[in-house]
Amino acid sequence: MSARPQSSTRKIAIIGGGVIGLSIGWRLAASGLSVALFERGKAGHGASWAAAGMLAAGSEVEPGESELFGLLKQSQANWPAFAAELAQASGLDVSLRTEGTITIALSQDEVGRLRQTYALQQQLGVNSQWLTRTEALEREPYLNPRLAGAILVPGDHQVENRILVQALKLAFTRAGGSLFEGIGNAGIKTASGRAVGVSAGGIDYPADTIVVAAGPWSPEIEGLPAIASPPVRPVKGQMTALAMDPTSPILTHVLWTQKAYLVPRRDGRLLIGATTEERGFDTAITAGGMLSLLESAWRALPGIEEMPIIESWVGFRPGSRDDAPILGETSIEGLILATGHHRNGILLTPITARTIARLVLTGETDPAIAPFGLSRFEDQDSKGTKSWKSA
Ligand code: FAD
Ligand code: GLY
Repeated sequence: MSARPQSSTRKIAIIGGGVIGLSIGWRLAASGLSVALFERGKAGHGASWAAAGMLAAGSEVEPGESELFGLLKQSQANWPAFAAELAQASGLDVSLRTEGTITIALSQDEVGRLRQTYALQQQLGVNSQWLTRTEALEREPYLNPRLAGAILVPGDHQVENRILVQALKLAFTRAGGSLFEGIGNAGIKTASGRAVGVSAGGIDYPADTIVVAAGPWSPEIEGLPAIASPPVRPVKGQMTALAMDPTSPILTHVLWTQKAYLVPRRDGRLLIGATTEERGFDTAITAGGMLSLLESAWRALPGIEEMPIIESWVGFRPGSRDDAPILGETSIEGLILATGHHRNGILLTPITARTIARLVLTGETDPAIAPFGLSRFEDQDSKGTKSWKSA
């Protein structure tokens, strides 16, 4: 990279106002840079609004994702300090709940699968605990009494992601960041192999550095050179919320069952999520999606039967080809990617904000994100194993 202009004169543009763009913007504005964030709609109303807010590094662990698990674990460890700092900067409490997460098995077949998950967790060093039926029911008395086994991950917490986006927005603007909302699609301008600015809603904003944080829409940004386009696609998720009595909730831990998870909020909402569908940007809430979620949730927690449904919605996870985020520089000078957070963007917010801010400020790639650059796909492509554009 060529010499960076002095901090006070450097202009940074961020495209996308979800948790990723807002948190990076907050960190950079607080460091004294001039930061403009361009959000085509309402900031925080993409995937970041649709999410369940689970910080589930241990419970969502998948075979073959040990490198990603390392990143998730680091970000999970950063969450308490991040939430406290954000509360101070914004005046909003993001409701970090620390009861932990329970995953249950309701048949012998499910027990077999849960034992495999437990073995993987033990291998990766997750602090998890096998619970007998009695031990699980002691913690959550309204669970289906037929349950055959369970795992408790005490360190898998949750936050209220809809407050999180409001807090980040406040923290960003209070730190001096400029937020342009409702301006339609922002585009990128490049000249001689470097990023030079953003155009949006009639504004032409010259920038020394541009951060692409547009979630699953990132590859569609006008002017983004093909060589820097992240292989990210929308992975549809339908969710629904029921109303519990907040004074006597029937669930306190986050609960995972075979085809659904349930997330109790302090205000009495019980979130039930989520489908995982390859249907592009299809916004339909379907009978099949709702049936599958409600049936699975009801098997786990029969007491939901009489609860009113208060909201149902759809969101789009920014899924990359290997399900890990895409973080770091591109071969276009001054153009940085922070996208592809897939199922874990809320969990990964603290580490993404810290490491991308460091990259912008110093030009240094933090070792935590070194394995997650765009070039990992170029390497695969040059070996002829996969096509870069077929996320
Ligand atoms: P978004 O929040 O989608 O923000 C991108 C923004 O960019 C949008 O506001 C969009 O309007 C804007 N934009 C797009 N194109 C342009 C353009 N050209 N110009 C200007 N603006 C543009 N993660 C967890 O950690 N825990 C969970 O429990 C969890 N649950 C989830 C449940 C569901 C149903 C879904 C869908 C996701 C869930 N996730 C969860 C994943 C998480 O929500 C995402 O990984 C994260 O929100 C991605 O944040 P983002 O800022 O990259 O994207
Ligand atoms: N992490 C939960 C989801 O993506 O549905």
